Amino acid sequence: MKFFIDTANLEEIREAQDLGVLDGVTTNPSLMAKEGISGEENVRSHYKAICDIVDNNVSAEVIATDFEGMVREGEELAAIDDKIVVKVPMIRDGVKALKHFSNAGIRTNCTLIFSAGQAILAAKAGANYVSPFIGRLDDVSTNGIELIAQIVGIYDNYGFTTEVLAASVRHTMHLIECAEIGADVATCPLKVIMGLLNHPLTDKGLAQFLADHKKANEQVTA
Ligand code: G3P
Repeated sequence: MKFFIDTANLEEIREAQDLGVLDGVTTNPSLMAKEGISGEENVRSHYKAICDIVDNNVSAEVIATDFEGMVREGEELAAIDDKIVVKVPMIRDGVKALKHFSNAGIRTNCTLIFSAGQAILAAKAGANYVSPFIGRLDDVSTNGIELIAQIVGIYDNYGFTTEVLAASVRHTMHLIECAEIGADVATCPLKVIMGLLNHPLTDKGLAQFLADHKKANEQVTA
């Protein structure tokens, strides 16, 4: 399973890249606003800065909601760097835009997916990734992980090459369950990736190893 980090914060992206397990970045207009990035030129240079940190796969979202606007914005975003994946919302004109980008060889990520039907449409339109939001489904008492499993099964039935990118991943169990059911990618905040490191028995075991080593060496030098 690929790991993407869901942030526009350069420091966090650098930290995840430095760990050596990062496969990409997803952003959205809310995450860009959180970093105080506004204005076309600043947005473009921020995306370029992200692309310069990571090896591939930087999802950059269009703001337009009409076909022509999405195509214009998407082409501008794709021109920033080969690593850019144009993120398009699951709306009627978005589906048309996915098909356009697919024909033009521009990679896409279809976002705001909340049903299997939406995921089928996105795959048929040629999306490279679909982003079902599992945490937001859980928030409304609907099992987000079950949606991921449903989409993985449907794509397997028909050999769709669209990758299932689990988004709105809020905690380590989401990440582990996504891996169990075969999500292609999970995107999450840095703290979720780092959370995978933790186990109290690891800390206890390491403390014991170091204490035993110290004791043995004190005996040798005594
Ligand atoms: O990738 C989508 C993500 O940013 C949404 O996460 O936690 O705001 O539902 P959240």
